[in-house]
Amino acid sequence: MSILITGGAGYIGSHTSVELLKQGEDLVLLDNFSNSKPEVLDKIKEITGKEFRFYEGDMIDETVLHKIFTENHIEAVIDFAAYKAVGESVQKPVEYYINNVSTVLVLLNTMKKHGVKTLVFSSSATVYGDPEKVPITEETKTGGTTNPYGTSKYMVEQILKDLYHSDPEWNIAILRYFNPVGAHESGLIGEEPKGIPANLMPYIARVAAGSLKELSIFGNDYDTKDGTGVRDYIHVVDLAIGHFKALEKLRKDHQGLHIYNLGTGVGYSVLDMVKAFENANHVKVPYKIAPRRAGDIAVCYADPTKAKEELDFVATRSLEDMCRDSWNYQKNS
Ligand code: WQD
Repeated sequence: MSILITGGAGYIGSHTSVELLKQGEDLVLLDNFSNSKPEVLDKIKEITGKEFRFYEGDMIDETVLHKIFTENHIEAVIDFAAYKAVGESVQKPVEYYINNVSTVLVLLNTMKKHGVKTLVFSSSATVYGDPEKVPITEETKTGGTTNPYGTSKYMVEQILKDLYHSDPEWNIAILRYFNPVGAHESGLIGEEPKGIPANLMPYIARVAAGSLKELSIFGNDYDTKDGTGVRDYIHVVDLAIGHFKALEKLRKDHQGLHIYNLGTGVGYSVLDMVKAFENANHVKVPYKIAPRRAGDIAVCYADPTKAKEELDFVATRSLEDMCRDSWNYQKNS
């Protein structure tokens, strides 16, 4: 039996593939390289020494998925394939809804036709919008999303809830990521955003490397300890392990719909991140204070209790690990 990883050459998909291969899982990866590179596949093999099957294609094309399910005995799907840049989603809403919502409908329809009903879905803390309170639990109100990326994740969560209500044989884990950062300790795989990074950690790494002049800190007048935005950063390898834990839970339960926050439960400000990166790597990260970024919220961090209790998942990698591994990847790429 194989696990299908859609978006398997992507940032979180590749790290999850490494962890699942290390656990002895048999994998089939699907990617269209819209936001990833073919050489990542070789890096996964180099890190693990393991083989896996790969299909190049787009999930919007049902024939690709039909071929995969016909040629392989798929036990479960972990669906990472999506665009994830908040700012870009505001500029390109139709592309985001096609790629992040329509493709999931095609995937679910194909899974149903092939009798595969076990799914781990990559969602995001963005579905909480501007949270009513922190730390955020899975019961915190969702919706009120402030951009098409977040809304697309919220829409898919609604689709999955409707699907499970219509057929309780489905076996679904929705994982709400907080802020994934860092890279595999080998430095062979990591976050490789195309063009100028939108996210904080890859931007800091490029400033430290001198390929960008300075960091613009988007606002220092938020109601936080130092005025800069606070987020729950989680090491991407911890996040990857969380997916294995979710798969194990689905294997035990055989059916159900479960939602988990995957975060550390600790919030760090932008200035905390700058200082931590400089201290961990003995580099300088010049910055300036800039106006707030539209759509940003002040504070967002998880209550990770439910994942600990039900998945036996706890993020173990420190902020120093996140900064060190991000810098190691930056130096290698
Ligand atoms: C973090 C903090 C910024 C860049 C988004 C998505 C989320 C996930 C991660 C996909 C904020 C500040 C940032 C910069 C800055 N994406 N910042 N200067 O916005 O919390 O989350 O990306 O899975 O779903 O919503 O992440 O890294 O962009 O910002 O000051 O150049 O860093 O204001 O406080 P964000 P981020």
